[in-house]
Amino acid sequence: MSLSEFVGQLDALLEAAIEAFNLAHTEDALEEARISFLGAKSGRLKTVQKQMGSVAADDRKAAGQRLNEVKQLVQDAFEAACARVQSQSGGTAQPAIDHSLPGIAAPRGHLHPLTQTINELKEIMGRLGFEVAEGPEVEDERHNFDALNIPAEHPARDPLDNFYVNVGPAVPMLLRSQTSTVQIRVMESRPWPIRIISLGRVYRPDTADATHYPMFHQMEGLLIDRHVTMADLKSVLRMFASSYLGADVHVRFRPSFFPFTEPSVEADFWWNGNWVEFGGAGMVDPNVLSAVGYDPEEVSGFAFGLGIERLCMRRHNVTDIREFYRNDVRFLQQF
Ligand code: PHE
Repeated sequence: MSLSEFVGQLDALLEAAIEAFNLAHTEDALEEARISFLGAKSGRLKTVQKQMGSVAADDRKAAGQRLNEVKQLVQDAFEAACARVQSQSGGTAQPAIDHSLPGIAAPRGHLHPLTQTINELKEIMGRLGFEVAEGPEVEDERHNFDALNIPAEHPARDPLDNFYVNVGPAVPMLLRSQTSTVQIRVMESRPWPIRIISLGRVYRPDTADATHYPMFHQMEGLLIDRHVTMADLKSVLRMFASSYLGADVHVRFRPSFFPFTEPSVEADFWWNGNWVEFGGAGMVDPNVLSAVGYDPEEVSGFAFGLGIERLCMRRHNVTDIREFYRNDVRFLQQF
């Protein structure tokens, strides 16, 4: 056989093999085509190879080279066909992801009980026309004491009862011990009438126990207008308490003293058969009105400061304030 005849047979075989592989659409069909072209005993490639002996000795090297090339090309075509058939039929390999399976649900968290309480208090007071005001937690003595009519020698300023912070040599600063600071900030910054609440953290160096924590939250309220009276204060507190505690809550005032209110009271709510103290309140002291540039002859007002943890604890029967700050999910999950 001449070299060109031999090569012609190889080329025809290659073309036929490619066509056969292309036409195979199942693994069985492909296997059949493989055996017929690449089969070790009687595959067509083998049959052509056997005829190499009849090629002239001088041409045998070239014939062998072409044979090897074609073998490789047939093999490549077969492998490409395998990949195609596998991907078309879904293949024998498992797909990496089954998109129809339900996903793994991520555990869902929620707001901290105190944050929930704060949001609810804002809601209730918002309905009574009080807007939310904010102030810094690191305060100067003017807003925490002076403007609130707390004189320089007053025991409330004792370093043992406050967290003074060292932020520079010039001004003594402290973590605010009450949200009453925000009363001053609001009155300084705008003219009356005023009807605000301010909810936030306050700090006192108390030893933590079931009812004390060195940081807790207060809701401050302030209303300034003409002809404001104690009756207005009591009505607002009563409407607030009834909304939050969910019953017709009675409010009791006991005489008390705060430098920034006159008269001053402790406010008790009648709750579950007991009088429970929720905070302090009173009519804004004329000295405070003067300190922010208001005319005490023209306007009056009331203020109150309630403990937010205490409200939340009463409503949800929490008996230890420290639970709010332990971050134990078994506690938090209950809200
Ligand atoms: N600031 C007072 C306290 O922390 C509470 C209070 C606020 C009293 C407003 C009267 C008026 O105890």
